[in-house]
Amino acid sequence: MTPKMAQDVTGMTTETVSGRTALITGASAGIGKAFAEVFAAKGWNVVLTARRAERLEALASELVAKHGIAATPIALDLAAPDGVQRLVAEIGSRGLTIDGLVNNAGFGVAGYYARTSWKAQKDFLQVMVAAPCELTHALLPGMIERGFGRIVNVASVAGLIPGTPGHTLYAASKAFMIKFSESLLLENRGANVLTTALCPGFTHTEFHDVAGVGKRVSKFGKAWWNTAAEVAEAGYDGVMRGRSIVVVGRRSKQVVALMKLLPEPLALRMVAGRSRSFRAE
Ligand SMILES: NC(=O)c1ccc[n+]([C@@H]2O[C@H](COP(=O)([O-])OP(=O)(O)OC[C@H]3O[C@@H](n4cnc5c(N)ncnc54)[C@H](OP(=O)(O)O)[C@@H]3O)[C@@H](O)[C@H]2O)c1
Repeated sequence: MTPKMAQDVTGMTTETVSGRTALITGASAGIGKAFAEVFAAKGWNVVLTARRAERLEALASELVAKHGIAATPIALDLAAPDGVQRLVAEIGSRGLTIDGLVNNAGFGVAGYYARTSWKAQKDFLQVMVAAPCELTHALLPGMIERGFGRIVNVASVAGLIPGTPGHTLYAASKAFMIKFSESLLLENRGANVLTTALCPGFTHTEFHDVAGVGKRVSKFGKAWWNTAAEVAEAGYDGVMRGRSIVVVGRRSKQVVALMKLLPEPLALRMVAGRSRSFRAE
């Protein structure tokens, strides 16, 4: 590792990241799209993946024109069991070296567990848990070898507070990603490969409409919401500083702090009561 790289753990320079490549999953909308904009603005080349090819192509062209970086769209479905394998093969065949990874693609399955299909839950686990684990496993050795890597796992405030009725596996999947991120950070920090679990609260994206709960969550006041750009900026800044967990937004930080103080049964009751207004049965 060069001395310059060693300094990167506490503060990256544009010069250091310029020309490196970041892979962002779920880049066709919301937080992933905002991450693509942040990375490109900092001088990174980007690989953009999601299912909607036209959106990825339009974003790639926009970022190339605006920031003079290279942008590669790769459209595929991460719910497919061979999705990650295909993605890694595509990256390899184009000769790309991935130094930054944002595991962001995601969606919610509305409703109580017993009333949902196993197919929906299985796809959910594939996209939210298995794919990020597999992708990280494929890309991490190269990052360690090169002595540089930045990984953001987009989790959620939901992973830091009690589970809710409805969206049954959501909190569990995000708690998983938070613990996974912490272990990765501790294992690889010495090799200058930093991992951050990014925990946004409500964020203006397509997420809630896709899950069919857009109308319900819109009842939450302005103070509860962040923009996708704010979330992505906080995530980028956090991983460059080597922070293990980044909670986004004042209200989210208050909720997380309060839930840590309360006894579990009381925290569970409070979250259950509040979540009735935005979680579908
Ligand atoms: N919005 C919030 O309030 C909020 C809060 C906390 C955490 N988060 C987390 O933030 C992340 C991004 O969500 P968002 O809010 O930005 O939602 P969004 O606007 O709906 O974007 C979701 C992205 O994931 C992609 N995606 C979904 N299923 C996929 C699949 N099977 N294969 C490949 N890509 C897939 C979508 O692309 P295609 O449809 O084109 O495939 C899209 O690019 C998620 O992990 C979510 O859990 C969101």
